[in-house]
Amino acid sequence: MNPAKPSTGTAAAAISGVVVERDPARMRAAVLAAQRGGRRVGFVPTMGALHAGHGSLVAQALARCDDVVASVFVNPSQFGPTEDFSRYPRPFAADCALLASQGVRWVFAPETESLYPAGHATAVVVTGPAEPFEGMLRPGHFSGVATVVCRLFLAVPADVALFGAKDWQQTLVVRRMVRDLGLPIEIEVCPTVRESDGLALSSRNAYLSPADRQRAVALHESLCQAAALWGAGQDVTAIEAAMRHILEQRGVSIDYAAVVDRDTLATQIPPGSPAVALVAGRLGTTRLIDNQELPPRPRPPG
Ligand code: PAJ
Repeated sequence: MNPAKPSTGTAAAAISGVVVERDPARMRAAVLAAQRGGRRVGFVPTMGALHAGHGSLVAQALARCDDVVASVFVNPSQFGPTEDFSRYPRPFAADCALLASQGVRWVFAPETESLYPAGHATAVVVTGPAEPFEGMLRPGHFSGVATVVCRLFLAVPADVALFGAKDWQQTLVVRRMVRDLGLPIEIEVCPTVRESDGLALSSRNAYLSPADRQRAVALHESLCQAAALWGAGQDVTAIEAAMRHILEQRGVSIDYAAVVDRDTLATQIPPGSPAVALVAGRLGTTRLIDNQELPPRPRPPG
């Protein structure tokens, strides 16, 4: 909107034209100073390996705010012991170049020890929307997400933080944490960006073999089918069976394929309430998730 000249502090470094701040206290001071100057600050938390999905969050932040901070931090506490933390892609220079080209003012890239000091003994645990689906299959995952997002919000006290609908359950967990702890930040959820065949962009798509990449479109196909059947008035059991059929035909190992209440993830969807179709599956060693919002259906007559 109104980009100000970034000023490099003593310890912040300028990489590819963007200010990279590694220190949480200095990051916080910079954001508070911008806000005291009347600037609205937007925040896009990421784990890097950026793609156009992240880019759309940054673009929407820039459209609504004077300054944008993006964080790049591969958060160890949200990965399980057998998950891909060590091999998660970390193309930091390319990420900074992309964020600079978009007009981001600061990249917050803390060292692990500054977010998780030696001997740390505190975590944020969300129940409710954090319990089913990803919460069941990835124990501790959402506690790791909630803890790091809370810590990031302290270092980046922005006016608004933007998250992708791609990780639907994550948006519910973050919203609930913000509400329950009374954190002074707005949460905005932005639409999922997809490849031309419908596959949702994800940093993990890079792991897919060419053959698995082709089969991965089944996730989107199952969601399109869910939307069509939902619109046609089919019951949830039939919709879930149709989703599973599409995924099985393409050889996706299904973790879940479900239609649930959009806001609570409850299996009972009150008449006239919006729903969401959620899908997670594995292709080889790569695990992908996706979802599709389903609009409220007219209440049955009588
Ligand atoms: P990461 O997977 O890097 O995603 C950062 C943000 O980008 C999330 O809000 C995610 O939902 C969004 N995003 C990912 N793919 C997208 C797509 N195809 N379209 C639109 N938005 C997309 O999610 C995380 O990191 C972490 O859990 C984090 C919140 C940073 C905490 O560590």
